[in-house]
Amino acid sequence: MEVLISESYDEMSKAAAQVVAKTLNAKPNAVLGLATGSTPLSLYKELVRLHRNEGLDFSQVTTFNLDEYVGLTRNNPQSYHYFMHHNLFQYINIPAQNIYIPSGTTDNYEAFCQWYEQRIVDSGGIDLQILGIGTDGHIAFNEPSSSLGSRTRIKTLAQSTIEDNARFFDKPEDVPIYAITMGVGTILEADRILMLASGDNKAKAVAAAIEGPVTSMITASALQLHQDVICLVDSGAAAELTMTDYYRWIQDKQPGAPQTVPRPHFRKKSIVDRYLES
Ligand code: PGA
Repeated sequence: MEVLISESYDEMSKAAAQVVAKTLNAKPNAVLGLATGSTPLSLYKELVRLHRNEGLDFSQVTTFNLDEYVGLTRNNPQSYHYFMHHNLFQYINIPAQNIYIPSGTTDNYEAFCQWYEQRIVDSGGIDLQILGIGTDGHIAFNEPSSSLGSRTRIKTLAQSTIEDNARFFDKPEDVPIYAITMGVGTILEADRILMLASGDNKAKAVAAAIEGPVTSMITASALQLHQDVICLVDSGAAAELTMTDYYRWIQDKQPGAPQTVPRPHFRKKSIVDRYLES
């Protein structure tokens, strides 16, 4: 994992936007995995600014969102459909047919989840997956005890997540109990992953994810199994990391590391591919 510590949320968000912009400049038809929540808000603002002022082009981009609340229609202001349109999509030139967000209102969740997984595969797989992290260490809505091999499915939200997200709703009782979410296994198939974390309320989860054991109790720790993860954290979220001197030393020696360090890029092979080749 490449851990990059920014002094502020703003600096972190601008660095994240640069990673996205470089991805799109290198591959204009890239497939992006997108996240909701407070953390990526400034990243999306910066992407809108880059689109308006510097011509960052989304005309060939495809996006897949991580999750959606079950039971909320796309027009509900608390839905992630609404969030994405109001914070990003309405301001950029992405074609509507290239936007995929899990449905919170399908009448057949099982079929929908299979279709969503297949759409990701048919689009060529996710080139860059953006992630936040929950205070309980979740990625997307993969709550503690989720299988690290899980796929897109319905998940019951943890009590701590319901409490964390109650701030977006009028009353805590309004927070849906279920969500449809990409699985940990789905996320790990992205070519590159960019995890963002801001604020000292995330410090424990960040330290557990980056430096703790790989465990389904902190589903973000599964990112340790991926070959190309950038963790962009601000100083608050980095507060409980024990190796900060090391991370900062690397960062200082290689300014702009995520963009400049050459990496061998191998498309990951599935177990089935390997078996067929053997
Ligand atoms: P937040 O949520 O960005 O609103 O803190 C992150 C998450 O729960 O994944």
